[in-house]
Amino acid sequence: MIPPLPDGRSIVLIGLMGCGKSTVGRELSRATGLPFLDTDLLIEDQVGMEIPRIFAELGESRFRALEVALLNYLRDHPSPRSSGIISTGGGIVLRPENRDTLRSLGFVVWLDVDLPNLLSRTARAQNRPLLYGQDRESRLRQLLGARSPLYAQTAHFRINSSELKVAQVVDIILQQTHSFFS
Ligand code: S3P
Repeated sequence: MIPPLPDGRSIVLIGLMGCGKSTVGRELSRATGLPFLDTDLLIEDQVGMEIPRIFAELGESRFRALEVALLNYLRDHPSPRSSGIISTGGGIVLRPENRDTLRSLGFVVWLDVDLPNLLSRTARAQNRPLLYGQDRESRLRQLLGARSPLYAQTAHFRINSSELKVAQVVDIILQQTHSFFS
């Protein structure tokens, strides 16, 4: 396996809950041999709580501050070995400073998935506090409308992956990564 990335640069996946960042990220990791990082999991490890409990006990704004701190840490501690595949929480683009930090980490890819697919892909998950107790369809529609411009502004590349298989998404991202860095 030949890592397609220069030392210290990463592939960063952004997009709404349910767009497939973790699944695609793990497959990219397998295909490249690069480590897989998930900002939600890193924050859960650091705080010692799962995301729903972080939201309930510390609040969303504390969670957003933890996202900022984590991205700053990743940016400020580059090493030749720190290239990786980074999957991010869907709201990471909300803080303007994160949008710049994400771009500084490497090649940022927006997995853009349409509402029907987001709805079916989030149907079973219990771990997303922003979807609790709400009409999921109108909530996702509202988040898609509000955040799409932020994803567009942050991403180097957008892929409409609604109808694509994971392997197809991975192939396209690897090709685009190669062009981006060459
Ligand atoms: C959030 C998305 C979640 C997680 C948290 C908030 C959001 O991550 O960070 O529940 O604001 O969209 P996923 O996109 O991985 O589900």
